Amino acid sequence: MPDRIDPALPKVELHLHLEGAAPPAFIRDLARARGIDIAGIFDDRGGYRFDGFADFLRVYAAACLPLQQPEDFRRLTLAVAEERAADGVIYAEFFLSPDFCGGGDLPAWREHCAAIAEAAQQAQADLGITLRGIVTTVRQLGPQVARRAALCAAETAGGFITGFGIAGDENAGQARDFTWGFDCAREAGLGLTAHAGEWAGPQAVRTALDLWRVSRIGHGVHAIQDPALVDDLAERGTVLELCPGSNVALGLYPSIAAHPVARLRDRHVRVTLSTDDPPFFRTSLCAEYEAMARAFGWTEADFRAINETAAQAAFCDAPTRAGILARLTEG
Ligand code: ADE
Ligand code: ZN
Repeated sequence: MPDRIDPALPKVELHLHLEGAAPPAFIRDLARARGIDIAGIFDDRGGYRFDGFADFLRVYAAACLPLQQPEDFRRLTLAVAEERAADGVIYAEFFLSPDFCGGGDLPAWREHCAAIAEAAQQAQADLGITLRGIVTTVRQLGPQVARRAALCAAETAGGFITGFGIAGDENAGQARDFTWGFDCAREAGLGLTAHAGEWAGPQAVRTALDLWRVSRIGHGVHAIQDPALVDDLAERGTVLELCPGSNVALGLYPSIAAHPVARLRDRHVRVTLSTDDPPFFRTSLCAEYEAMARAFGWTEADFRAINETAAQAAFCDAPTRAGILARLTEG
């Protein structure tokens, strides 16, 4: 495997937070224009600065403060789409939080969502990248907020919005209090995913599967501690949205070599690779692939197989999936 991954290798990215992908300069300039003082979240070189997961969530929320108008999200979507396209991404799903897009209010969400969807259409036309949105509640904001987010998801389901999920502090609150949101989103025909087994243990992954009935798990790395659960994931065909660079940057693992991505794959779990919040973790999808090649000897054939898994698990309709699969084999 060459040291560097050809950016032109077509890639599918399932786990990417729109606000978490915001270039720091974009946020800094917008904050300055709005007179919002968030200078403390940047380091000397202008990157995001945080220390551990709790601090990351605080800095993340602060970075969202200048994003206020639908127009901000339209421009952000285009900026992020451009960076993803330069990374070889042909299809990506964005986690979007109604709480950051209009404060969870349905009419405001509709406006923000329309601006993001319009930018996605423009990105498709100009950059050839296909984008879909996953409405995502932030767990530490509580079950009431999650219900509102699920209603926003159900009301805008179809077209651009194709999924519902949960992110944030997975140790906050009781899992059963979030079940209503997943049931509501499923009824609306949305695909379901949950951040689980990132900071909590394997039980959190079981809960997401059995209680929330998701088909994909964000991270799920702690499943590796429970061999029966690993077998179960493999048997059910549950897809893990793995983000090794994120896990190392947030201190879950000391190095990529210590990450369970290869062990999970060897146990026949369907794994995919994503960046989560690339500028926060100073990563890109090419950088993630290069790290896999260095640590585990993965080759282009491995990456092609992983992208096919991601395309199979994408929350999109059959013609869109067929189109992505065709581009993956052509590219
Ligand atoms: N929101 C953005 N990135 C996240 C992560 N890695 N875990 C939980 N919530 C998040
Ligand atoms: Zn995430």
